[in-house]
Amino acid sequence: MANIFAKDERPSGHICDALVLGLFEGQELDAEMKKIDGALNGEISFLIKSKEFKGENGQIKIISTQRRIPAKKIVLAGLGKEREFTNERLRRISAASAKANREQGIKNFSTTLNSNVQAVVEGIVLGLYEFKKYVNVEKNKIKVVESVTVLGKGIDKSVKKAVIISEAVCYARDLVNEPANKATPSYLAKEAEKLNAKVKVFGKDEIEKMGMGGLLAVSKGSSEEPKFIVIDCNSGKEPPIVFVGKGITFDSGGLDIKPAPNMEDMKCDMAGAATVIATIKAAHELGIKKHIVGIIPSCENMLGPKSYRPGDIITAYNGKTVEVWNTDAEGRLILMDALSYAEKNFRPAAIIDIATLTGASIIALGNDIVSLTASDEKLKKKVLDASKKTDEMMWELPMIEDYKDMIKGEIGDLRNMPKEMYYPGTIIGGIFLKNFVDNTTWFLLDIGATGIFTSDRHYRKKGGTGVCLRTFIQLLEEW
Ligand code: BES
Ligand code: MN
Ligand code: ZN
Repeated sequence: MANIFAKDERPSGHICDALVLGLFEGQELDAEMKKIDGALNGEISFLIKSKEFKGENGQIKIISTQRRIPAKKIVLAGLGKEREFTNERLRRISAASAKANREQGIKNFSTTLNSNVQAVVEGIVLGLYEFKKYVNVEKNKIKVVESVTVLGKGIDKSVKKAVIISEAVCYARDLVNEPANKATPSYLAKEAEKLNAKVKVFGKDEIEKMGMGGLLAVSKGSSEEPKFIVIDCNSGKEPPIVFVGKGITFDSGGLDIKPAPNMEDMKCDMAGAATVIATIKAAHELGIKKHIVGIIPSCENMLGPKSYRPGDIITAYNGKTVEVWNTDAEGRLILMDALSYAEKNFRPAAIIDIATLTGASIIALGNDIVSLTASDEKLKKKVLDASKKTDEMMWELPMIEDYKDMIKGEIGDLRNMPKEMYYPGTIIGGIFLKNFVDNTTWFLLDIGATGIFTSDRHYRKKGGTGVCLRTFIQLLEEW
């Protein structure tokens, strides 16, 4: 990962391999830009006048300075119309300019973009993210940016903070991108144990003894041992904020096996768990002293002679019975145990649940919007407000009373999917899980659609996105 520095220096005198200058459409050059433009024989104003560089949103133009100023290259970055400018645009143009530098083989660049340091650093670090650890052939051809300097006065602290958050998002992405034969439940447990917190890992026998029928049932078809991971950070008298993350390290669907196309993406089914681990890491590094607990039920959903079956009935940690109608609706079965465990053992201030729960979330809101189902209006507003500040889009899906009947059991209390042919899958996921939280304010973020990306876009790379981490940190800071 590139090192990011802050430096208070005038751009015109700053030594670097490339200097990013942002320009709005029709913007007059400021004093520093005029100085640089003058040194370059008016090259920048010529490009603007000749309409080769109009400052259109996302436009990048690289010019050589021929050593007339200390910066070897100027990277002009179009910021679009000034009145349309947002932090999200700044994040995206920061990513685009970073990638343009890397493409040119530039190893160290500097940027004058600094109107919102947090967004700039996020754009650069997340935009440059790649998962190349298993590439061996022609490794030397991989281009990397080694260092980036953000120019500005009094921005050291905000740069440091933004680096911690952005690197934690990259860490979450790494965990998601790690293939299922590497990132097993035991691997997640080991990552959790690296955290600066009290970590308890329960194995199969303890899971069975505690009565976590869901986690046990789902894990049965796999030779990987299930793990129930509890991370307790800054524990004290204060009731904790509990994060519960789905940790299915591979979701084959089980006996209700998934079709072959895209099944490989199901290594991402622990994205919720990854975000929880990385959030706690970042919270510690940022010096957030609140009592935070992370709970991760983790196993593989596979097929084998011991697999759980459609028609089985399982008993959850809180005693409720659930009929298995589809072994591919496994996330809710491991989360139900984790939620009731959290409530019973921690008496939390709130439970924040994050899971790649439903494919239906892609239909409901597409790949850019996280689905939110919440049991409490006040908490819901808090999350939505936080997400507006981080530009991680979220939208509420209502858990109306009338839909509850769809998952009423026939011989037990609940069924894990509706009998109807067509049903609102993401809402039902929320309604199902709400049955396992009695007295605690709780909300669920379904990142089935947003936790993994199928192509590169802006500052997101194909693969794990690390979505929701930035909002979680925002939320913790405001709590
Ligand atoms: N992990 C999947 C959800 C998913 C699918 C996430 C595609 C990301 C991309 C989950 O376990 C699942 O299979 N859900 C089923 C539930 C259904 C059987 C009730 C689904 O969404 O189809
Ligand atoms: Mn599934
Ligand atoms: Zn799943």
